[in-house]
Amino acid sequence: MSGEGAGEITIGAPATVPAVAPAVSPGVPPAVEVHDLQKTFPPHRRGRGHEPTPVLRGVSLSVQNGEHVSIIGRSGSGKSTLIRCMNLLEIPDAGVVRANGVTAFDDGLKVNGRGLVDFRRGVGMVFQQFHLFPHLTAVENVSLPMTKGIGIPKLEALSRAASMLRKVGLADKMGSFPHELSGGQQQRVAIARTLAVQPKVVLFDEPTSALDPELVGEVLEVLRELAAEGMTMVIVTHELAFAAEVSHRIVFLHNGEIAEQGSPEQVLRHPSNPRTLSFVSQFGTK
Ligand SMILES: Nc1ncnc2c1ncn2[C@@H]1O[C@H](COP(=O)(O)OP(=O)(O)OP(=O)(O)O)[C@@H](O)[C@H]1O
Ligand SMILES: [Mg+2]
Repeated sequence: MSGEGAGEITIGAPATVPAVAPAVSPGVPPAVEVHDLQKTFPPHRRGRGHEPTPVLRGVSLSVQNGEHVSIIGRSGSGKSTLIRCMNLLEIPDAGVVRANGVTAFDDGLKVNGRGLVDFRRGVGMVFQQFHLFPHLTAVENVSLPMTKGIGIPKLEALSRAASMLRKVGLADKMGSFPHELSGGQQQRVAIARTLAVQPKVVLFDEPTSALDPELVGEVLEVLRELAAEGMTMVIVTHELAFAAEVSHRIVFLHNGEIAEQGSPEQVLRHPSNPRTLSFVSQFGTK
């Protein structure tokens, strides 16, 4: 991808994402995996009476290197909680979280300090709300995790940040502050910031749902490019057509459990679970 000087994503040909998931190589651990994740939030913060309700009820999911997995499901089904647990932004009550074979959480035992920083560096995250620092320019926002997080010297970090911003088509916005950027541009800065520390896998939590409809396309285009480059991605999204296009696998979460998973064709067009059918019917993909 090149966006040099354009201020927008300029690509030569539409990105094509391999339809088939990369083969699992024996001995190579999944990029990220969770086993039997359990999470219950305390009742007082849920505002639904006094009983704690489980939000994740034994979720297991392994994502292979190069695989693109989309997580879909109704509001409140636990999608954000699941991917936040996958990089330990949320701490599960029980279960196992592992990245590239390294265990970061195992039934209450969690890596800390340097181990946690290294783990999170490998499992990047992009949020619905971009979470940029308002007093820093685009290039400073992107370089910050490199200088503060992994000790890359400032000049090198700025140069890497500039190249990441070019990659997402923002070559002419390096010195702009977040308030000078559109939502789509801010989200592309946030994606550049996540990519800058070279994560092994990126988790996206509804990366386009805070955007005005006309800005969704430019962000999806960046995601499409990343997918075409073979980046390992887990995407929580309500954009089912996009999920169908880029995903090797779609996971339908219902009430904190994986109700169904499979290829986009299988889950979106021929769902076997009535709850999946009812969900996808609303979006007109079935
Ligand atoms: N920090 C929290 N404290 C208390 N309850 C929470 C917290 N975070 C999430 N919940 C509750 O957990 C449930 C699942 O929330 P989650 O955000 O994972 O759902 P979601 O599938 O991402 O929904 P949406 O599509 O609306 O983003 C919801 O009932 C929510 O209210
Ligand atoms: Mg959510």
